[in-house]
Amino acid sequence: MNLQRLFARKDIKKLIEEAGTGNTLKRTLTTTNLVALGIGAIVGTGIFVITGQAAAEYAGPALTISFVISALACVFAGLCYAELAAMIPVSGSVYSYSYATIGEFIAWFIGWDLILEYMFACSTVAVGWSGYMNNLLASIGFIIPPHLAQSTLEHTKDGWFFTGSIINFPAMFIIAILTTFHLLGTKNSAKLNNIMVVVKVAVVLLFIGFGLSYIDTTNWIPYIPENTGEFGHFGWSGIFRGAAVVFFAYIGFDALSTTAQEAINPQKTMPRGILISLAICVVLYIAVTAIMTGIVPYYELGVDAPVALAIDRTDGALSWISPLIKLGAIVGMTSVLLVMLLGQARIYYAISRDHLLPSFLCKVTKKGVPRNAQIIAGVISGLVAGIFPLHSLAEMVSVGTLLAFAIVCFAIIFLRKAQPDLQRPFKVPLVPFIPIMGATICLIQIAALPMTTILRLVGWAAIGIIIYFIYGIKNSKLNKI
Ligand code: ALA
Repeated sequence: MNLQRLFARKDIKKLIEEAGTGNTLKRTLTTTNLVALGIGAIVGTGIFVITGQAAAEYAGPALTISFVISALACVFAGLCYAELAAMIPVSGSVYSYSYATIGEFIAWFIGWDLILEYMFACSTVAVGWSGYMNNLLASIGFIIPPHLAQSTLEHTKDGWFFTGSIINFPAMFIIAILTTFHLLGTKNSAKLNNIMVVVKVAVVLLFIGFGLSYIDTTNWIPYIPENTGEFGHFGWSGIFRGAAVVFFAYIGFDALSTTAQEAINPQKTMPRGILISLAICVVLYIAVTAIMTGIVPYYELGVDAPVALAIDRTDGALSWISPLIKLGAIVGMTSVLLVMLLGQARIYYAISRDHLLPSFLCKVTKKGVPRNAQIIAGVISGLVAGIFPLHSLAEMVSVGTLLAFAIVCFAIIFLRKAQPDLQRPFKVPLVPFIPIMGATICLIQIAALPMTTILRLVGWAAIGIIIYFIYGIKNSKLNKI
């Protein structure tokens, strides 16, 4: 085998030219649009569900520190994403960037990792959506039978077991609805997204504003609960594991870079969009976590709808906003799911266009919808959402994305050396310090995750490498030129 083929690169100029001509997307997005899109993709299950579970199991009130650690990784990686997105403003995110700069094999590896991220993220968010929907319906007296409202499988430290539930029906239902929405090629998705963003940010602010006066500061003592003797369960190891788990809550800003081709003046708007949306989310998340753990003792927060629980614990004082919060959380998660389903199909589409995945995945309808990719995305994510529990799914997303971010950070250092002459409209400051810090924090977070999660990532990567050597390398369009 000719090893040089693994490093075959797409021509950057051609890639950008192709992106700017022909049947392509229009540049209409401003910084404000990008920030709205970013928040639309970011604020969802992470803050409305995973925060409570991570506080209860790993970090207690000190989950606020976990959020800061995780945010640092995101800001550093976000800057690296911004340099790449501004340098190569085409769709396909890091998959396309690395194909043009490092070579085919690494591009495939990252693409395969992105598939993991988006596929499992869709499933995770759908399961979170289901938890709030069940809760909301129960509060108006409509109970979905438990055998249709829970995951089929559960995972504890003793291994996998059946819960007795057949399938998580609401989780599959919402994926089916949103997949249909995308298949219809709805033009108004940006407008719908803006409305949903306003609703979910309003709900989060409502929770912060009203929840503030119900904090009982004794719930914050001890702020860092003592480690149980097991790595990752409270104490500092718990804070780091908490950081890796709530990392899920920040995922989504990277989806912004997939819209670089649709941004006006992406060299300026892209970095601003990424950094501003991240900054807003950091502040919101820390505030929500502090208030949630201030109202409810942290060890009681491991429920499906922890924000709703906190509201219900205010002795009825805030019961009037309870339905609003639940509805807002549902709307928020819907908007994340909408973006993630679209992103997942676009990743399949981009990889298949290069013939590293079968070409039926890049067939596009007259309305410009990658129909087969969208259907496959919906079916796989729907099945996974119906069967698996939220925490296992979220940890898979976090580990996969942390790896992708670490690679992006390394790519910046590599490219500055290997291709110093490339035009870089936006440059990461303090290279190599910032990329090294970004990659290091990502790798520490990976190491803090349970070993089973890390092994699943290794298994996923191994399957990807096998597929590349059996299929991709033979069919690659670039290698046939
Ligand atoms: N950050 C997104 C969420 O929390 C994936 O739902």
